[in-house]
Amino acid sequence: MGAELVESIEHLRQRLTEARRANATIGLVPTMGALHAGHVRLIEEARHECQAVVVSIFVNPLQFDREDDLRRYPRRLDQDRQLCDRFGVDLVFAPAVTEMYPVPPACTIDVGHLADHLCGKYRPGHFHSVATVVMKLFGIVQPDRAYFGEKDAQQLAIIRRFVADLNVPVRIVGVPTVREPDGLALSSRNAQLGPAERQSAIALFRALKAADRRIASGDTDAEQVKRLAAAEIPPDDPSLRLEYLEIVDPETMQPVTAITGPVRVAGALWVGSTRLIDNVLSLGAT
Ligand code: PAJ
Repeated sequence: MGAELVESIEHLRQRLTEARRANATIGLVPTMGALHAGHVRLIEEARHECQAVVVSIFVNPLQFDREDDLRRYPRRLDQDRQLCDRFGVDLVFAPAVTEMYPVPPACTIDVGHLADHLCGKYRPGHFHSVATVVMKLFGIVQPDRAYFGEKDAQQLAIIRRFVADLNVPVRIVGVPTVREPDGLALSSRNAQLGPAERQSAIALFRALKAADRRIASGDTDAEQVKRLAAAEIPPDDPSLRLEYLEIVDPETMQPVTAITGPVRVAGALWVGSTRLIDNVLSLGAT
């Protein structure tokens, strides 16, 4: 039958009521579209575990802190729909902004100290808007399970935490990051990179891997590890600017000074006018 495109909340709810009546487990994969192999991994995971799979495609304007980023964000619904079709998605929920926000929301989700560091520090209000739109999607779809990538580790940690804190009845499933053969994490924003920028962009993953190796070899001094890792970003490449490289507790997303257990090493790198993020889980000395 193929993936059905649904634009209204009411229509989606009708479809989901039918699925629930048939006792289907409902899986939700929230996205902003321009789907790539990273999103596909989430869809495959959902397809494997659930009888009804919903992919939402919504470029949430509230979570963009820069006007030009929102404007430049790739939008390709036709292509996305075909891809959803190919991977066995049942419903593609692609609402208009006015469907999701008929009025600006007065009640939103406060994500507290979880947004104090990493991307939250440089994108004020971003995670608060992400949590709010994800909570809305949970309210609309009422999924049994929802799938998120570890690529956005701070986002995943925040979603896990508000679901726990607010007793939202959904199981959150984290999916490992899908990478290009050279290690670059797949991202919808990679499409904005020119050929030279694409080459330069790998510096971020190199820096994260350097930190991981250093931690695995027994270095417990976070400051030192960060310094060594940051040195992997070529200083003579004018297209590159490291926004942050941080070592945090994997659940609280707070920076650590002494590495005594598993940590996330996370970074954001500007490549020209494109901002890329990535992270690795580092298990410590082996
Ligand atoms: P978007 O950037 O489209 O990502 C949708 C989902 O795909 C997220 O859970 C993200 O972590 C995951 N993802 C992206 N690249 C990945 C990769 N290389 N490997 C594995 N998973 C990957 O994240 C958002 O949209 C939005 O903030 C959203 C949660 C939809 C709320 O608006």
